[in-house]
Amino acid sequence: MESVEQIAELHRRHGIPGIAQVIAGHGGLPKVSVAVPDATGEMYLLGGHVTSWRPAGLEEVLFVSAATRWQEGRAIRGGIPICFPWFGNKADDPKAPAHGFVRAVPWKLESISQAGGSVAVSMFTESDANTNKWWSADFRLALRATFGRELRLELEMANTGNAGLQFEEALHTYFRVADVEKVRICGLDSVRYLDKTDAFREKAQHGDLAIGKETDSVYLNTRHAVELQDPGLRRRIQVSKENSLSTVVWNPWVEKAKAMSDFGDEEWKQMVCVETANVGQFAATLAPGSKHVLKAAIQVTSL
Ligand code: BG6
Repeated sequence: MESVEQIAELHRRHGIPGIAQVIAGHGGLPKVSVAVPDATGEMYLLGGHVTSWRPAGLEEVLFVSAATRWQEGRAIRGGIPICFPWFGNKADDPKAPAHGFVRAVPWKLESISQAGGSVAVSMFTESDANTNKWWSADFRLALRATFGRELRLELEMANTGNAGLQFEEALHTYFRVADVEKVRICGLDSVRYLDKTDAFREKAQHGDLAIGKETDSVYLNTRHAVELQDPGLRRRIQVSKENSLSTVVWNPWVEKAKAMSDFGDEEWKQMVCVETANVGQFAATLAPGSKHVLKAAIQVTSL
């Protein structure tokens, strides 16, 4: 982990007075903390992980568990974990870490820049001997998060090797909600999905989605924006996207929540994940030397 001196050096190199600071966050982990007139936000180097976004005058949009461990080697429970290069369990290796290996390792801070009312933070991670133990491909993966009136996320994957490759990816976004049983997720009517709570059976969504039980659904061939309506917080959260054909909706509900050591027993009520992804049959393929950029934009309006 970065020492206090290394964090101070990152701040000297990348900080913008009054706008962006690199400081020690929870567990002494380095984070970038940004504040512009339109929003505040936070992004940890661990996992290239956005943990907070608060548009001016509004409440926090992202959920982070109070039971998060905040240590290298473990993913932060909440915010926006990056799943890569596989989603869920690795098909041919049950011992490989769930959701891939980039969410639990420190990324590198590339740049912080200000444009208009927004500030963009870019971090990246690359293949090395450790990643090659799990996955032989050579790559560079970067996340650029732009904090402003909207939160823009661009996950850029570059194939830096000599062979074509295939990968899965997800912006596993945890949204903070007042009461998950009262929210509605709109924009998935008639879309087919794989129900992971029912042996991956393929089903069709009818109307808006309400969460009344454990939910773990991978919606197929989704190109359009999804809207999360939260009457308790009187807001709509719109997630629009580009280059993403999967949307995953997840809430662990009562038993799974109890079984997770880094998640409070009651916290399932205050969160729902709506994930912008390319998984399963929509895994992305990349020729050597080429890039793939998955984009999401999150906006909040009143309900
Ligand atoms: C979701 C998956 O995206 O993430 C679920 O669809 C999984 O199956 C959940 O349980 C949380 O995963 P993890 O590895 O962060 O506990």
